[in-house]
Amino acid sequence: MIIALNNKSNLTKQDFEKYQEELKKINSEMQLILCPNLLNIGEFHLENFKLGAQNVSETTDGAYTGEVSANQLKSYEVEYCIVGHSERRMYQKETLETISKKINKLFENEITPILCIGETLEEKESGKVEEILLTELTTAIVNLTEAEKDKLIVAYEPIWSIGTGIIPSNEDIKKTLKFIKTILPNSKILYGGSANENNIDTLKEIELIDGYLLGGLSLKPNDLEKFVNKLEK
Ligand code: PGA
Repeated sequence: MIIALNNKSNLTKQDFEKYQEELKKINSEMQLILCPNLLNIGEFHLENFKLGAQNVSETTDGAYTGEVSANQLKSYEVEYCIVGHSERRMYQKETLETISKKINKLFENEITPILCIGETLEEKESGKVEEILLTELTTAIVNLTEAEKDKLIVAYEPIWSIGTGIIPSNEDIKKTLKFIKTILPNSKILYGGSANENNIDTLKEIELIDGYLLGGLSLKPNDLEKFVNKLEK
């Protein structure tokens, strides 16, 4: 089971130091991954977590002002990187082509991509979930080898569920994960979107879920610990 924490654009350098002290207390057999904001990557020193990033440049090192390459992330011992989060697709206008390039750069540098996919509420209500996910998945994996496809981690995050406190029914999640498995049968699949210590007992009934991508909960170490404990029970 994988637990990946997405801090998003939260925590100053000072906050992050205190935060790491809290996270140190979380003891688990599960694979814990922390994706701090980019600057805090340089401050990371936890032994119970692996290090992840939230984004990477589609370019290599070079004259690309403001960009951070996969090679540079690698030099900070980053092992995982979130790609194509809906917030980046929405606010930074990340395209399907950009996301595919980023995934390739990560694999070239032996960093495991965590590809986020998911539908809007409007797309869900008009019955387009599978169509949307098919496009997001097939365009992202177009240049990957079979071995890379197997290594890719997919995070299914319904956009209408992110940060809203609303989660899909277990039946809907199961149906969607089964669909993802038809395209990527060997990839690990995470669920993301308002997962917390109150709904984990219900979510954990879904056997197809290989782990969770946690946004809001990542910022509350005490509740996160409850979540981890409930999941491990
Ligand atoms: P949330 O965010 O857990 O706050 O809904 C998840 C995410 O955006 O990855």
